[in-house]
Amino acid sequence: MSDLFSKFDPVIQQRDELLGAGYTDPFSLVMEKVESPTVAICNGKRTILLGTYNYMGMTFDPDVVAAGKQALDDFGSGTTGSRVLNGTYVGHKAVEQALMDFYAMDHAMVFSTGYQANLGVISTIAGKEDYIVLDIDSHASIYDGCALGNAQIVPFRHNDVEALEKRLKRIPEGAGKLVVLEGVYSMLGDVAPLEEMVRISKENGAMVLVDEAHSMGFIGEHGRGVAEAQGVMDDVDFIIGTFSKSVGTVGGFCVSNHPKFEILRLVCRPYVFTASLPPSVVATAATSIRKLMNSADKRAHLWENSKRLHAGLRQLGFTLGTDTPQSAIIAVIMPDLEKGAAMWEALLNEGLYVNLARPPATPANMTLLRCSLCALHTEDQVGEILDMFAAAGRATGCIS
Ligand SMILES: Cc1ncc(COP(=O)(O)O)c(C=O)c1O
Repeated sequence: MSDLFSKFDPVIQQRDELLGAGYTDPFSLVMEKVESPTVAICNGKRTILLGTYNYMGMTFDPDVVAAGKQALDDFGSGTTGSRVLNGTYVGHKAVEQALMDFYAMDHAMVFSTGYQANLGVISTIAGKEDYIVLDIDSHASIYDGCALGNAQIVPFRHNDVEALEKRLKRIPEGAGKLVVLEGVYSMLGDVAPLEEMVRISKENGAMVLVDEAHSMGFIGEHGRGVAEAQGVMDDVDFIIGTFSKSVGTVGGFCVSNHPKFEILRLVCRPYVFTASLPPSVVATAATSIRKLMNSADKRAHLWENSKRLHAGLRQLGFTLGTDTPQSAIIAVIMPDLEKGAAMWEALLNEGLYVNLARPPATPANMTLLRCSLCALHTEDQVGEILDMFAAAGRATGCIS
């Protein structure tokens, strides 16, 4: 019998080597208690959270929590059904209306996760005969959406406007074309040049989908994302987003002005063939989205945090993923996986949680310590974070 698990041997070996060298497994941390969007108890110790993508700190917002509790009382714990059968409650319509209001768009469709939103929309609108031109550093859910729909995939170099244009020009005349971009790329925290990319895509007859998972709530005057900040909202055909970051719960969505958009509810398999989100989740999401519409002060404070952390880490001598702070993600580049694991563990021992990211999830085989800031991190907490980076960096030899 052939062992179907033998293909995982290289990953098993890499993991065994890391644990054999005495490092804690960075992928099995347990949060014993979560006190707020910025503090949890891990291994019995107070730990500042700097790797949760909880950008706007909505998870403990009293209105959000109250809405969830009320929905649990009024509608029970789950829908036990697909959106197209028994799984559409008033709360699902309410959160879709909140999204239409938030983005000022005609249509909104909610999925059970952001992963499923990309999987569903991309695979349904771009099929076998169509071409999807996408940034090579796109999220796994985008690649999986392309694979599920069986479209022709045409990747281009990360954030390279000329490469995008060249690929578009090579596609046969008359073929269906979808360009898929992200507002903020989550590995390095860099922003896409959407203004130029959307213009070029339109000039070449392509539809454009932008995944704003890491920019919703924070970037742009109304928090609509990078497309808003760069003034191209009207030319983007589909925006994909998630409730698992700034919104502070779970779920995914697509918003659009396309006149035929609603037909997706009948033909999109990852929407039809799965249960809808629980009533408590859609209630928390709707409340959170409506509050995010009036969160300019929090957005301003988050920018301050991002700038302060970026400048402080640079001053300490760390190499960062971007020259300037472009989003709420700041990636610290580690020399290799072993040093990355050592630094990750040293930070945890200091009382700081960040994400360790390693190949193949990272671009150019990099090992990264990804920091994601929250609007509720105080100035003092950012100071504490920098002190912990200094101590851990010196202890592991990452900085001198
Ligand atoms: C760019 C991007 N798109 C989509 C997703 C999927 O979101 P969700 O967690 O809601 O499945 C993520 C999550 O990490 C992401 O980073």
